[in-house]
Amino acid sequence: MSKIKTVFQCQACGYTSPKWLGKCPDCGAWNSFSEEKQSPKPLKSFGASEPQPLSKIIGGREKRVPIGIKEFDRALGGGLVNGAIILIGGDPGIGKSTLLLQAVSKIVSQRSEVRSQLGKGGHGGVRSEPRTVLYVSGEESPEQIKLRAERLSIDSDNIILLPETLVENVISTAQDLKPSAIVIDSIQTVYTEELTSAPGSVGQIRESAAKLMFFAKKSDTPIFLIGHVTKEGAIAGPRVLEHIVDTVLYFEGDRGHPYRILRTIKNRFGSTNEIGVFEMTDEGLIEITNPSELFMSERPLGVSGSTVIACMEGTRPLLVEMQALVSPTTFGMPRRTSMGVDFNRVNLLIAVLEKKAGIHLGGMDVFINIVGGLKILEPAADIGIISAIVSSFREVPIDTKTFLFGEVGLSGEVRAVAQGDARLKEAAKIGFKKAIIPKSNAERLKDDFGLTIIGVKDVEEIIENIK
Ligand code: TYD
Ligand code: MG
Repeated sequence: MSKIKTVFQCQACGYTSPKWLGKCPDCGAWNSFSEEKQSPKPLKSFGASEPQPLSKIIGGREKRVPIGIKEFDRALGGGLVNGAIILIGGDPGIGKSTLLLQAVSKIVSQRSEVRSQLGKGGHGGVRSEPRTVLYVSGEESPEQIKLRAERLSIDSDNIILLPETLVENVISTAQDLKPSAIVIDSIQTVYTEELTSAPGSVGQIRESAAKLMFFAKKSDTPIFLIGHVTKEGAIAGPRVLEHIVDTVLYFEGDRGHPYRILRTIKNRFGSTNEIGVFEMTDEGLIEITNPSELFMSERPLGVSGSTVIACMEGTRPLLVEMQALVSPTTFGMPRRTSMGVDFNRVNLLIAVLEKKAGIHLGGMDVFINIVGGLKILEPAADIGIISAIVSSFREVPIDTKTFLFGEVGLSGEVRAVAQGDARLKEAAKIGFKKAIIPKSNAERLKDDFGLTIIGVKDVEEIIENIK
C-alpha cells in the first residue's frame, strides 16, 4: 500500500509544514501544529446533492428511538437519532463506560422494527428484529468489561465486544455486523493507519472521528464516542470534535460525591442545557428523577449561612442548597473560596454588599459552597450568594421554608430572571412556603402556586426580608 503523504498544519492559521514545529512561523501560535493528510479526498456527500426546494424534502427521517434510560434520553433530547454521532466527554473515572454499558444493555433489550419489503409472499409489513450493539474498547480487555457487566448484572448475546484500536477495522467489522448502535471507548485510543502520529493526537482523533462519522451517516447507525477530557484537555483532546459531531454530552460530577450530571453542551436534534441526573452506586448508575428532593434531603435546618436557591438546568428547575461561611481572618489577607459558583461572581457580590449594604467583609474570610458537588453558573444564584453570606455574617438563620432566586447587578439592583414560574412551581411542589424573588418577576406572575411571594428590588430589600 502506498503511504499517504501527511503534512503538519497550524490549527490557528492553516500554515503547512512538512515537519512538526513548536511555533507557527506565520501567525506565531505556539503548539498549534497537528498532522493532516496532505490532500484529503473531499468526503462524499451524504445524500442528494441536487438543489431542491424545502417543501419537496420529505421530513421525519430523524426518528427518535428512546434508549430506555429516562435521564439519558432527556439529555439526548428524547432519544437516539439514526446516524447521529454523540460525543460523551468527562474526566477519567467519572463513569462514562458504566453509563454506556448500561445504555447499551437497554438498547439490546428492545427489538427494532424493520419494514420488510413487499416480498415473495406478497405481504410486506413490519417485523421486529433483535438489536445488537458493537462495543469497541481500546482501553479495557473484554474480561475487564465482563467484570463491570457482572457488577451491573448485565449479560446479553447481543452486546458484541471488540477490542480494537484501528478505525478501519472497526468500520469493516461494523459493516459485517450491522449493529443498531456503536460505542467507541474511547476516541483517544483509536487511530487510522493513514496518519503516522500517535493515537490521541489531534490529527488522529479528528481523522478517525471523520471516518466514523462518514460510516454513521451512510449506514444510519448512531455512534457514541467516549472522550476523556482533562482540565488541560482543552487543546488536544476530544474538544476538537465538538464542531464535527451532532451531540456533545458532558458527564460531570465530583469524585467525592455520588451524584453525576449528564449535561448537553450541543445538540443538533434537541435543546441544549438539558441535564440528566444520576447517582453512582455499587450496582452502577441509578437515575434520579427528582433531583431537587435529593439535594434538599440532607439540609441542616435552622443554621446560619444556608440558603436554598431555585436554579434552572435547561428546562428543568432544580432546588439546591448554597452554604456560606464567614469568619474573621486570622492573619493577613482575607480568604475567598468558592466551590460550585464562579469565584469572580462571589468577589463581585462581596463588593456590592460592602458598598451598597454597608456590610463590611474586609476582615472576614468568605467560603461559598454548593452542596452535592453541583456547579451553578446561572446569575439567578446571585441573590442566594448574597443571602447566605449575610446570614452567616450575622449568624441569623434563614427560614427553612424560604427559597430565593434573582440576579444582582453592580449597583445592588435585583434583576429579573427567566422562567420564574417554573422555579416557583418546583419549590412549591417540594413544600416551600415563601419565595424571595426579583420585583419584576413578581409583577408578572400568573399564579402564586400557594407561596408567599416577596418581590425585592435591591440588596437592602433582600437583607430586610431574610431576617
Ligand atoms: P468507569 O465507567 O470505568 O469510568 P470512565 O469510563 O469514565 O473512566 O467508572 C469508574 C468508577 O465508577 C470507578 O471508580 C468505580 C465506579 N463504579 C461504581 O461505583 N459502581 C459501579 O457499579 C461501577 C461499574 C463503577
Ligand atoms: Mg472508561
